[in-house]
Amino acid sequence: MDQISVQHLLGIKDLNKKDIDLIFSAADNFKEVINRPIKKVPSLRDITVANLFFENSTRTKLSFELAQKRLSADIINFSSGSSSVKKGETLIDTVNNILAMKVDMVVMRHPNAGAAKFLSENVNAVIVNAGDGAHEHPTQALLDAFSIREKLGEVKGKKVVIIGDILHSRVALSNIFCLKKLGAEVMVCGPATLIPKFIGELGVKVEHDLMKALQWCDVANMLRIQFERQDTKFFPSVREYIMMYGLNKEKLDQLKKNIVIMHPGPINRGVELSSDVADSEHSIILEQVENGVAVRMAVMYLLASKLKR
Ligand code: CP
Repeated sequence: MDQISVQHLLGIKDLNKKDIDLIFSAADNFKEVINRPIKKVPSLRDITVANLFFENSTRTKLSFELAQKRLSADIINFSSGSSSVKKGETLIDTVNNILAMKVDMVVMRHPNAGAAKFLSENVNAVIVNAGDGAHEHPTQALLDAFSIREKLGEVKGKKVVIIGDILHSRVALSNIFCLKKLGAEVMVCGPATLIPKFIGELGVKVEHDLMKALQWCDVANMLRIQFERQDTKFFPSVREYIMMYGLNKEKLDQLKKNIVIMHPGPINRGVELSSDVADSEHSIILEQVENGVAVRMAVMYLLASKLKR
């Protein structure tokens, strides 16, 4: 069996194209499995996974948990809000106490960039990054690229624009790494204040005019404004942002061509996307969610296959 080149999934930056192809190939198989009447396989039997969420999540948390159940893993769940973190316990102490219960793999979401890497260097378990601050969200990027491949046949050569709050987005950074490794052309679009100055060094185009960006692309990945990560104002008003960068049916109709609309969720309906676009036939938002389970099964299966048992 071909093996993934990494011991942990900390970020897309660490993967090579062969790793991503391997994940997609395993996800193809798992997608077929989860559409069968009997959706469970024994691939992670006797593997114990801890899901540690130090930040809110709906999709990622449920998707990882369902993926683990489909793979027959034993699971423990931890949410920082109801834990002894509130009494001052450190990340390392928290995780080492959980590992003392003989845990093989940790899936962690944390508000601080670098938290997953820190854990991988300090505890003896496979670490899967479920989003660390504004740094990376690798499984989101993998499921996004997998969904583009499913919709358009391949990712190579496709033009993908990521629109909105690039500055605070771990989804944007992981998507850029993943799409570039797979041979897509990538553009970012948004107000200058929400696009980091280093972005050109990643080999992406920058466009501030939404209609020009939409005319250029095959796929538009709309991002949420992350108000919770903003301690200052990055644009004059939400109303102005909607006028300049919100996507609605009127703007889509002006294009006179079909584009694929994506969003990682949660959507701010009426801000970055109007409901008639989010729920239109152009949108693959719920396909992204469905593919998340198969892609996360693939990631955990490939990492677990490297565990010495
Ligand atoms: N896309 C995503 O990470 O959503 P959640 O924050 O709900 O997990």
